[in-house]
Amino acid sequence: MPARTDVPVYRADIYSAAAIRDTHTHYAALRALGPIAWLNKHKVYALPRYAECKAVLLDEETFISGEGVALNPLANRVGRGTTLFSDGEDHSRRRGQVAHRLTPRALRAMTATVEGQAAAIVEAAVAARNIDGVGLAAALPMSVVPDLIGWPEEGREHLLRWAGAAFDSLGPLNRQSVRTLPSSLGMMRYARRVVRDRSVLDGSMGHDLVCAADEGRVPRAECATMMIDYLAPSLDTTISAISSALYLFATHPEQWNLLKADPSLIPNAVNEVVRYESPIRAFSRSVARDTELAGTPLPKSSRVLVVYGSANRDPLEWDEPETFDIRRDASRQLGFGQGTHGCAGQGLARMETSAMLRALVNRVERIESTGTPEWALNNLIHRYEYLPLALIPA
Ligand code: HEM
Repeated sequence: MPARTDVPVYRADIYSAAAIRDTHTHYAALRALGPIAWLNKHKVYALPRYAECKAVLLDEETFISGEGVALNPLANRVGRGTTLFSDGEDHSRRRGQVAHRLTPRALRAMTATVEGQAAAIVEAAVAARNIDGVGLAAALPMSVVPDLIGWPEEGREHLLRWAGAAFDSLGPLNRQSVRTLPSSLGMMRYARRVVRDRSVLDGSMGHDLVCAADEGRVPRAECATMMIDYLAPSLDTTISAISSALYLFATHPEQWNLLKADPSLIPNAVNEVVRYESPIRAFSRSVARDTELAGTPLPKSSRVLVVYGSANRDPLEWDEPETFDIRRDASRQLGFGQGTHGCAGQGLARMETSAMLRALVNRVERIESTGTPEWALNNLIHRYEYLPLALIPA
């Protein structure tokens, strides 16, 4: 493709290990180039600012998901048939199959159980005192999500690795995505087996899907894909939000004191954490027809990259975006996406993260950072791999 002279070019690889560890420096450099920058390495138009990201997410007829939202053709082919990779009525039909599981009413029925689990998890962590915050952050999603999906006990030990691999595979074809491909395919094979053997837990979301296939409402071949649709994005993302919250409150004790003094700030604190350290870095869209964005012509079949993590730190949208402040109105953050593909599980993610914060606020005087955290190397997920902390009991 000949280089365009009307679009600034960014030559650095934002998916290199170094860039994954230092993601916000690259986002700032991209935003400084303008509303659209050509990622030379990945042959895609990056949208680093808030306004263009939001505009693209809200125009699903021009910026489609059906050609995939990954950055490599293999994943865009393998992922066909998922909710994430579909458009129009096809998308609504898939999303509608399990929507009733994640409505505010359905979630309300789970609240007491989830809060009880969060309290027990935090009590054990406080007793241990010195902990890895990632382990603490993983405990609640791992005890809630597999049951909700209906995953049999056997095989659960692989879920986190599989889910992380599924995200990695959505990046460009690089070392990360190639290395994790076998794990991604392993999850698909396992899901097919679970559907074939009907080993999903009774009364679960997966069970709903198998029943829908029995009644001819869902093609049987799609059951496994749709189970993965809800499993893959539901673990690492929430683990990211909870672990980032732990680190941010450890390093901003004044914000922790505000939260302890007024726990009604918890829902907004969740928004601010997702704004500040957006768990998903970016997804792409394919351009369905010749169009224009921010005055720049975009040809049909080109690809744009919606960089949620950068939009959420855009100074054109946010006052002092580099400041973590749970009192700001962060409700318009784009970390859960927006529009028709906006996160289907955000109610659950908010409930889990809030339950953990509530349990911590009640039992912990302060959170201390006791070492240097490490970022996980993943093309899509922005989360800690290791987060040494001490929980000082109240
Ligand atoms: C903090 C936690 C989470 C974050 C930050 C997050 C983020 C996102 C984002 C950015 C999208 C939009 C994709 C797009 O624009 O193409 C999305 C979609 C989705 N998320 Fe989440 N997510 C989280 C938790 C969850 C959970 C817990 C579940 C499942 C129970 C879930 C299920 C889904 C599904 C099924 C989609 C696809 C929706 C569609 O294409 O219509 N997510 N999520």
